[in-house]
Amino acid sequence: MNEPTYTKPMLKEGSLEGKTILITGGGTGLGKAMGKYFTELGADLIIASRKLEKLEETAKELSENSGRTVLPVQCDVSDYASVEKLLKTSVEKFGKVDGIVNNAAGNFISPTERLSNRAFDIIVNIVLKGTYNTTLAFGKHWIEQKQKATVLNIVTTYAWTGSAYVVPSAVSKAGVLALTRSLAVEWAKYGIRFNAIAPGPFPTKGAWDRLLPGELQDKFDFKNKVPLKRVGEHQELANLAAYLISDFSSYINGEVVTIDGGEWLQGAGQFNMLEAIPSEMWDVIEKMVRQTK
Ligand code: HXC
Ligand code: NAP
Repeated sequence: MNEPTYTKPMLKEGSLEGKTILITGGGTGLGKAMGKYFTELGADLIIASRKLEKLEETAKELSENSGRTVLPVQCDVSDYASVEKLLKTSVEKFGKVDGIVNNAAGNFISPTERLSNRAFDIIVNIVLKGTYNTTLAFGKHWIEQKQKATVLNIVTTYAWTGSAYVVPSAVSKAGVLALTRSLAVEWAKYGIRFNAIAPGPFPTKGAWDRLLPGELQDKFDFKNKVPLKRVGEHQELANLAAYLISDFSSYINGEVVTIDGGEWLQGAGQFNMLEAIPSEMWDVIEKMVRQTK
C-alpha cells in the first residue's frame, strides 16, 4: 500500500537554507522530529535540554542524516542564567539565531490535590517559565541587534479548554498561548513573529509513559477520542512547524494552529455523543421528534 501523503515531507528543498533554529527539548520526541525535518530543509540547528548525552546522540544522528550542523547544548530552560549561556554559545557558534521552537515540556497525570507545591512548580517552571525565559533572553538580543526572528510555541488544545488531571501543564500552556498572542502584537514592530501549534495526541515516549502509563494505554486509547480515528504522524507536525518557522508564513502572526484530527471539538460539541447512535435508529428517532407538538 502507498504511504499516505501526510507522512511525506511537504516543503520544497532548501526552504530553511541560511537559517539557524533553536529547538528546546530537541533531543527527543516531537522536538527531534521537527529538528530532523528542519535540517533536511537546509537549516542549522541548536538543540537544548537537560540531558547532554541524549542531545549529543540526536545531534550526531541528525547531522549525519542531513549534512547540516547540529549543536547540542545542555540547558535547563527554567533557569534564566542557563538560557543566557545558551544564547551566548549559540551566537558564538553561528553568529545569529533566526528562530526558536519552544518545545521543552514536563507533564504527568495526577489528581491535583496529590501534588506537592514543588511538583506544581516543576511543571510551570519548565513549560511557562522556560518559554518566557528563552523568549526574553533571545528577544532582547534580537531587538538590540535589529534582527528579525520567528518564535514557534508548542502548546496543546487544553491551553484554552483546560484539563483535569494535568492542571500545572494546562495552566502553563494557557500562559504560553497568552504570551504568543501578546508578543505577536508588541514585538511585530521589531520584525519578530510569534505563532503556536496545538498538537493532539502524537505518540512519543516522553508523553505516552507519563500520560497513559501501563494498562491505561489500552483502556484509554487516544485514537478513540479523535474523530479521524488515528493519532498524529510526526512528519505532519514537522511539516506544519517548518512552514510556520519559515519565511513562507511571513504574514501569519499570533495564530495557534490546531493539529489534532478534530479531537478537542469532539469533546466540546454538546450533541457529539449522538455519534454513538446506529444509523438505522435515525428513522425511529426522526418520527419521535416529528410527533412532538
Ligand atoms: C505526583 C510527582 C510525580 C507524580 C514527580 N512528582 N512525579 N508528584 N505524581 N507522578 C513530584 C516529585 O515528587 C517532586 O516533588 C516534584 O514532582 C519534582 O519531581 P522530580 O522527579 O524531582 O523532578 P525532575 O527529575 O526534574 O523531573 C521533572 C518531571 C519529569 C516533570 C517530573 O517527568 C520530567 O523530567 N519530564 C520531562 C519530559 C516530559 O514530561 N515529557 C512529557 C511532555 S508531554 P517533591 O515534593 O516530592 O519534591 C506533554 C503533552 C501534553 O506535555 C498533551 C498530550 C495530549
Ligand atoms: P518529550 O519527548 O518528553 O519532550 C520533552 C522535552 O523537554 C525533552 O526532550 C526534555 O529533555 C525537555 N525538557 C524537559 N525539561 C526541561 C528543562 N527544564 N530544560 C530544557 N529542556 C527540558 O515529549 P514530546 O511528546 O515530544 O513533547 C514535545 C512538546 O509537544 C511538548 O511541549 C508537549 O507539551 C507538546 N505536546 C505533545 C503532545 C503529544 O501527544 N506528544 C501533545 C500535545 C503537546 P531533557 O529531559 O533532556 O531535559
